[in-house]
Amino acid sequence: MRLDPRSDESPVVVVANRLPVDRVPAEDGGGEGEWRQSPGGLVAALEPVVRSSGGTWVGWPGAPGVELEPFEARGLHVVPVVLSAEEVADYYEGFANGTLWPLYHDVTGEPVFERRWWDAYRRVNRRFADAADAACARGATVWVQDYQLQLVPAMLRQRRPDLRIGFFDHIPFPGWEIYSRLPWRREVVEGLLGADLVGFQRGADAANFLRAARSTSGVVTRGSVIECADGRQLRAASFPISVDAVTLDELARRPETRRRAAELRAELGDPETVVLGVDRLDYTKGILQRLRAYGELLDAGQLAPPATVLVQVASPSRERVEEYQRLRNEVEVTVGRINGDHSALGRPAVHYLHKTFPKEEMAALYLAADVALVTPLRDGMNLVAKEYVACRHDERGVLVLSEFAGAADELRQAILVNPWDVDGMEEAILRAVSLRPAEAARRMRAMRRRVSEFDVHHWANAFLGALAMVAEAREAQRRGGERPPGFSPGRALGRPAGGR
Ligand code: G6P
Repeated sequence: MRLDPRSDESPVVVVANRLPVDRVPAEDGGGEGEWRQSPGGLVAALEPVVRSSGGTWVGWPGAPGVELEPFEARGLHVVPVVLSAEEVADYYEGFANGTLWPLYHDVTGEPVFERRWWDAYRRVNRRFADAADAACARGATVWVQDYQLQLVPAMLRQRRPDLRIGFFDHIPFPGWEIYSRLPWRREVVEGLLGADLVGFQRGADAANFLRAARSTSGVVTRGSVIECADGRQLRAASFPISVDAVTLDELARRPETRRRAAELRAELGDPETVVLGVDRLDYTKGILQRLRAYGELLDAGQLAPPATVLVQVASPSRERVEEYQRLRNEVEVTVGRINGDHSALGRPAVHYLHKTFPKEEMAALYLAADVALVTPLRDGMNLVAKEYVACRHDERGVLVLSEFAGAADELRQAILVNPWDVDGMEEAILRAVSLRPAEAARRMRAMRRRVSEFDVHHWANAFLGALAMVAEAREAQRRGGERPPGFSPGRALGRPAGGR
């Protein structure tokens, strides 16, 4: 990783619910199987960062009861944390994905409040804090990730005051009207207040957190600075996450990727227009709303297969959680209905793929797609939007993007839509399909400039740089007012370093 000198004194210890690798059993059922990259935007963004800094990753291997010694995989030092089947049910499927996930995504699903789940969340957060404690050298920088581990910063701070502790929330942080429903709202805020720096995707998320901190914990806030009752100061600010733009651009330029893109279009029957959706199969992603709008355009004859086809990749996710099973059924019924009404033999109107593809195939799909529909109901950032842009070195392709994805703050040249507005969605899809190539290229160029400048390395440097400054200020304060050379407390605590 291209880290700033001030932030790379020691390799970073990342603590995340999931390890960046999942163990995939061997096809013949024997042997150890192999390690593959885990799903989701968090891993996609952080894996290159940790690997190139020679850091450590503390996390859960993704299956219950898996006990493993620390090991090296895909160039990373990996420290596995064990979860029992009951903990997977109560902490991961329960509190993280049955309570926090829907609550933090504007209640697009119904959050369930279960005391047993909360107890498991606390217990498992403690275990992650123990594992991080053991993995950190004196004075190390530890970077805790996402909503599954919000109590870890305070747990670590309590036993390891020497550590520099950062936390990044990959998903939205809800407004007070929604957040205040959480029966454990104070405990969660106080968990996060243990960090030196709490990072969010958007300025609005940081503002929501600052409000929650004032309301639940009686802290004082000044801009992005939070002052705790014991005098310790921390910061909450936005650091929009991004993709490894150079690597994706290189991948998409490879002759074999371009060949594969042409092959994909041929396999789809050489349509005039390929429309693409790529999501984890999650109710926050707006897949049903998208299918509804697309289906209505076919019903009205405004789009006509086989000249226009929709490819919807829906990667399997949280399959044991009931809401996800229900969603899968509804999506599959809807796709079946559209295809029943509009497909010809051997020429489906919607190609629905319930699977995960390797990066190479995804890059080819992005290149093959004239229009990408990224229309979540609520999303922290949505890296699919940025991946699509990073792959379109040919400056072709049109992005339709939900106003409710964090990426909409940056990718202003996308066709922005409200995914709840069926008419608006239909208009946006029609506009995207018929956008003049020169106009499409102008928009894509502007978005590519943004994604290439503010890439994942910029994100990590901005966050770790800001973390180093806040931690230095705190350490200086503890040493009794002494300041590091050239250090300005106002700058360290008051001004976003790279965040917006
Ligand atoms: C989102 C979350 C991540 C999570 C990923 C995949 O990107 O922000 O924390 O890892 O989804 O979800 P899963 O539940 O499979 O880890």
